[in-house]
Amino acid sequence: MNGSIPDHVAIIMDGNGRWGKQRGLTRSEGHYAGVQAMEQVIDAGIELGIKVITLYAFSSENWSRPKDEVNYLMHLPVRYFKQKLPEFIRRNCQIRISGNIATLPAATKDALLKAVDQTKSNDGIIVNFAFNYGGRADIVQAVCGVLREVKNNNLSIDDINEELFHDYLYTGDLPDPDLIIRTGGEKRVSNFLLWQSSMSMFYFSDVYFPDFTKDMLKEAIYSSFNKGMTADW
Ligand code: FPP
Repeated sequence: MNGSIPDHVAIIMDGNGRWGKQRGLTRSEGHYAGVQAMEQVIDAGIELGIKVITLYAFSSENWSRPKDEVNYLMHLPVRYFKQKLPEFIRRNCQIRISGNIATLPAATKDALLKAVDQTKSNDGIIVNFAFNYGGRADIVQAVCGVLREVKNNNLSIDDINEELFHDYLYTGDLPDPDLIIRTGGEKRVSNFLLWQSSMSMFYFSDVYFPDFTKDMLKEAIYSSFNKGMTADW
């Protein structure tokens, strides 16, 4: 934390599908509207001096959605970064991915890796996309990473502690989230950052993610860490 501003805010961007349905649109059109809200959140993060924003963009459970919706969500990073990567570079944002990218369609994987590679020297806000991410899978892959080191004699069992284990998670060198926001009205964790959220504050909003605004993000932060802040900052 930097005063009243959290270092790391993570967001479960829920409610896109319902937002679309409510307007007689498709679920995918709801996701497209979610992208606009996501940009508001990134803008607000930059304005406030938040160091890391993690966005739950595709969970390991999302594969069970209808095929056309999954295809749409897989294509989204390709389309999005083709258009927006220069802006991320110009704004000094560093893009990271947390999740199992190995099993993604080649075009999706390439778009994500290119975004990470081309922003890796930027030292402004870190925008971390949790993509093909599951909290349990994260812990399992971290266990495998640690075991591999033990097997290769790079680590002994006595070296293993919480701090070391943290480095093997997808979020490796990132601080744990100070605040996790979930939009869309449901109050559950949905396999998001299970290890990393042990000390996080949670903030739930009934608003569907496409309607989530900069001011709502500020209100979420204000009401979670309101020491020394006024409501209109
Ligand atoms: C959950 O809403 C949201 C998602 C599964 C996808 C969120 C993704 C984005 C906003 C864009 C990501 C962009 C990039 C470039 C990676 P839901 O579909 O579960 O909504 P519902 O609860 O109303 O059904």
